[in-house]
Amino acid sequence: MSSSPVSYPYSPGLEGVPAGISKISEIDSDRSSLQYRGYDVHDLAEHGSFEETAYLLIHEKLPNATELADFRSLLGAERQVPDAVYSAIAAMPKDAHPMDSIRTAFSVLAAFDPDYRAPSTDHEANLRKAVRIVAKAGTMVANGHRIRQGLDPIAPDPAHSTAENLLHLMTGSAPVAKTVQVMDASLTLYAEHGFNASTFANRVCVATLSDLYSGVVTGISTLRGPLHGGANEEAMRMILEIGEPENAQAWIDDALLHKKKIMGFGHREYKKSDSRAMYMSKVAKELGIESGHTKFGDIAEILETTMLERKNIHPNVDFPAAYAYYLLGIPIDLYTPIFVVARVAGYTAHAIEQLQNNRLIRPKAIYDGDANLTYVPLTERP
Ligand SMILES: CC(C)(COP(=O)(O)OP(=O)(O)OC[C@H]1O[C@@H](n2cnc3c(N)ncnc32)[C@H](O)[C@@H]1OP(=O)(O)O)[C@@H](O)C(=O)NCCC(=O)NCCS
Repeated sequence: MSSSPVSYPYSPGLEGVPAGISKISEIDSDRSSLQYRGYDVHDLAEHGSFEETAYLLIHEKLPNATELADFRSLLGAERQVPDAVYSAIAAMPKDAHPMDSIRTAFSVLAAFDPDYRAPSTDHEANLRKAVRIVAKAGTMVANGHRIRQGLDPIAPDPAHSTAENLLHLMTGSAPVAKTVQVMDASLTLYAEHGFNASTFANRVCVATLSDLYSGVVTGISTLRGPLHGGANEEAMRMILEIGEPENAQAWIDDALLHKKKIMGFGHREYKKSDSRAMYMSKVAKELGIESGHTKFGDIAEILETTMLERKNIHPNVDFPAAYAYYLLGIPIDLYTPIFVVARVAGYTAHAIEQLQNNRLIRPKAIYDGDANLTYVPLTERP
């Protein structure tokens, strides 16, 4: 017998349900804009840097020149990772997904943080942890990639920015300026995005008075899925399956006929276009023209036009980021881990904000199962 259904306001997937108050970022669905602490992401991507953005998110204001220089030096000084982290990555199967490696790497790294055992509500300790997390994420992703290829990890250069460090360690050679610029812009655009699934999961975790590292591990575990961060990898596999612009129309017609989800399209918050996608698309198309590989941009245009005409669905940032990363020569299974390198700035900012005014996050389930059944002893059950 089912319990009597109780009528609660309920929105599947919590769509449109306010789940907390935050000063970190504002998504304006009507204007298709995204602001980090009041600053438009386009301005930050065009004129700022990922380091400026990370400072803004974590320290709640844009840095002045001295503060930015000090922050860059601090990040540079904190990029090294304990050997135990590399040993843990090396112990994983070589075909483990790099998202599994980075999730594991953060678990191991936690125990080496000198502030790890500080109470989670210690604000100054949390700021130091946030800087270490942001500084080391790229080192772990890039050197994790080296380890699975049978290569030794490379020591980070403290003078390098986050984008330079990531690209240098991944490829083993000094990256060119355009490559750094594209990577830096993508990190800036990926750094923060309100109460998305992984950031919210991260806040739920730290609200139990767990710690920043556990919050990051929870976030990474949640980001992994193809409906969230994993979409950039799936989008690139789709573009490669299409192969050439002349195949694109037939491919998308067939996909829509068979009601396939087109990866890199659609967004819970943006129904009139994702502002990050517009900027990333410009950068990705410029990169295609500069490198003489315009076919991905051409395929993208056919998919974008058709999705808009037939479904009124716009691309999200994962779509142009996917082919921008491909043009930078980055292996596809590193796309979501690179998203992590950026998003840890948002996770840690949210963790700190949550802990400044904490309340356990514990929603209610609407029970819709059986009730008041008679217990039947094991031996008497059919
Ligand atoms: C991101 C996403 C989960 C948002 O979903 P949502 O707000 O819950 O919207 P829904 O999944 O309920 O979709 C609403 C409608 O649009 C369609 N739709 C949404 N995204 C679509 C896509 N990428 N391709 C094709 N159809 C899509 C759904 O099929 C549904 O159509 P229906 O009403 O006829 O059943 C969804 O757009 C999606 O799965 N996109 C692909 C994965 C992706 O790129 N994720 C990265 C997000 S940054």
